Amino acid sequence: MVPLEQLLHAALEAQKKAYAPYSQFAVGAALEDEQGRVWSGANVECASYGLTICAERVALVGAVAQGVRRFRRLVVVSPGGCWPCGACRQLLAEFGADLVVIVADSRQPHFQQQTTLHELLPRQFRL
Ligand code: THU
Repeated sequence: MVPLEQLLHAALEAQKKAYAPYSQFAVGAALEDEQGRVWSGANVECASYGLTICAERVALVGAVAQGVRRFRRLVVVSPGGCWPCGACRQLLAEFGADLVVIVADSRQPHFQQQTTLHELLPRQFRL
């Protein structure tokens, strides 16, 4: 397990790279895999708004595309500290509902809330 501080730092660094000219709402995410590696991402918006991709999914697909499928913790930072949206919950759940999810307010990163993906997405759709 990497220190929570390290995950938080990675999420805050990722948030700086958010491309959010439409919403001005920058989000950063950092996923810890089972080997203690950290995969980060930021939201990427598009003039065709619906094509926007959330920070959590950017982090997740970056890891999965490198062959990583098992994760321990996710840290998400944003102004105010938002919870992952429904689409992100579903995609994250594809790789395990035991994931610990920690959200933090990027303006005061030590204000954190923690739960599990199972708590955020009970009775998930599965094939
Ligand atoms: N956003 C995320 O990156 N993660 C979330 O969990 C919720 C929303 C982004 C999408 C969009 O770029 C901006 O926040 C406003 O919705």
